[in-house]
Amino acid sequence: MQKIEHIGIAVGDIEASNKLFAKIFGKDSYKSEKVTSEGVITSFFQIGESKIELVAATNDDSPISKYLSNNKEGMHHISFAVNDIEKEMKRLKKEGIRLLNETPKNGADNKLICFLHPKDTNGVLIELCQEIK
Ligand code: CO
Repeated sequence: MQKIEHIGIAVGDIEASNKLFAKIFGKDSYKSEKVTSEGVITSFFQIGESKIELVAATNDDSPISKYLSNNKEGMHHISFAVNDIEKEMKRLKKEGIRLLNETPKNGADNKLICFLHPKDTNGVLIELCQEIK
């Protein structure tokens, strides 16, 4: 893994949270993007070298809807940039870490992504992401 790519925050109302975080960070989000396949809308803030992703559900089947029916809004996942996502997925599987998807999925921000099972990672939802070239 190369570095933390972004930290994901689950929110109920993307509009309200965009305003709130713009106030907190002192700048607007630079990008908002729907990921229809995941049933989410995201928005990204750049803070120096770091990125924060707000993520809200766009339908009731969305993983974020399910998450927010059991948890409060807040820290949701940490995303790590990788060079070769398939290689990293294979390596982690060999280490006994379950993956939430067996093949890389298209995520927001021009990335291939894969989530690791939080039961195998001390409860931390970890996302791998690889830039699509
Ligand atoms: Co993410």
